[in-house]
Amino acid sequence: MFQMLDIGPLELNVNGEKRTVVARPADTLLYALREHLGLTGTKNACETGDCDVCTVLIDGWPVKSCHMLAVEAVGHQVNTIEGIKGSPVQTAFLAKEAFQCGYCTPGYIVTAHALLTLHPDAEDEVINEWLAGNLCRCTGYQEIKEAVLMALGR
Ligand code: FES
Ligand code: FES
Repeated sequence: MFQMLDIGPLELNVNGEKRTVVARPADTLLYALREHLGLTGTKNACETGDCDVCTVLIDGWPVKSCHMLAVEAVGHQVNTIEGIKGSPVQTAFLAKEAFQCGYCTPGYIVTAHALLTLHPDAEDEVINEWLAGNLCRCTGYQEIKEAVLMALGR
């Protein structure tokens, strides 16, 4: 009879802390963050890579955590929405009221935080390209773009 084996414990570096996770080989990073570490700020929606709701930072780059195995995150710096609390992007989202139900908001903030860090002088085309993968079912795209522009100092 088939038996699911665990591969743990894995040592993950999450939000600047060493965290130990006992994961199965097929556990995604998203699953490990939410179910093993209780970091539920990272949301789960499509699990097919289409919505970017699950975005986290891996070594500063936005990555869909539903498409990465937990074991692949070993040796990398993982940052979730909890790790960038109080960031200029989060402040701008509040100032512009760039959310309705808020389900897509963590993914947007994480993506925009990386944009701000890696491309602080980004032109409109680059901003649009970076935000294109994030979907908002409440369609608050205008306010979201305004918040990102505000965080970029425009
Ligand atoms: S839940 Fe990961 S892209 Fe939609
Ligand atoms: S605010 Fe509801 S999905 Fe974006």
